[in-house]
Amino acid sequence: MVISSLLRDLEPVVETNLNRHLATARDWFPHEYVPWSQGRDFDGALGGQAWQPDQSVLSEAARTSLIVNLLTEDNLPSYHHEIAAMFGRDGAWGTWVHRWTAEEGRHGVAIRDYLLTTRAVDPIALELARMSHMGSGFVSDHTGSALHSIAYVSFQELATRVAHRNTGRISGDPICERLLAKVAADENLHMVFYRNLLGAAFELAPNEAMRAICNVVKGFQMPGHGIENFARKSVQIAMAGIYDLRIHHDEVVMPIVRHLRIDACEGLSGDGEAARDELDHFMSILDKNAVRFEERREILRARTTR
Ligand SMILES: [Fe+2]
Ligand SMILES: [Fe+2]
Repeated sequence: MVISSLLRDLEPVVETNLNRHLATARDWFPHEYVPWSQGRDFDGALGGQAWQPDQSVLSEAARTSLIVNLLTEDNLPSYHHEIAAMFGRDGAWGTWVHRWTAEEGRHGVAIRDYLLTTRAVDPIALELARMSHMGSGFVSDHTGSALHSIAYVSFQELATRVAHRNTGRISGDPICERLLAKVAADENLHMVFYRNLLGAAFELAPNEAMRAICNVVKGFQMPGHGIENFARKSVQIAMAGIYDLRIHHDEVVMPIVRHLRIDACEGLSGDGEAARDELDHFMSILDKNAVRFEERREILRARTTR
């Protein structure tokens, strides 16, 4: 089949999954999750109290992760541009694009309100980081390929779900955990939407879909990879067990690969078959690297707690 017609062929699947999404997703209100009573004026225009690091009750790793997650959410205009350009703004695709954007918009609002109200992070550094990050925008690694884009967002939504969930879990603040669990639940529904689409694409064009999945997994980068000092922040996040190679392998890539029953797919040939082998090989290397990382982390943790 001709891949350029794929988006048109998938439109009925989009419609079905859009309706399923709308029936499943429950409205929620960010203001209900923010502890406003903890808030007070900052210095500057209102002459309140300046931010001090000791006002934050969160660990350094939790703060780093919340900043990365928030800056990632902040770049929504660029993501909207990417998916609107790829999927279009008409019909079921368009309804999804706008609905998804509206839901994602809630995440940045809610997390920023929480961080500022609880004085969890330096508000000036946060704003400067937002300006710098959004100033560079986000360009997808997969512009021009609908299949690669659908594969990428499937893994990316699951990755952000796990990152939000685990950040909440290690935050030590039940209010933060409740808020991030709510955000994570949204990301999960987004993942299900895209994963179902990827499944349908896999049936329509198995070889091309297999190639796209393989390429996307091999070159996967988090959507916030353009954040300043992202590599250093990622190490901190991995060391804290929020998002690391083991989690990426076990809780992000494998569940989707398994769900698509890639192993059992009999319709592959030529490059599709080669891509499946390539993915298989890559996953075993990823698994070995994850083992190595966990061992190194154990040694480092033992050293710091000694
Ligand atoms: Fe989000
Ligand atoms: Fe999402």
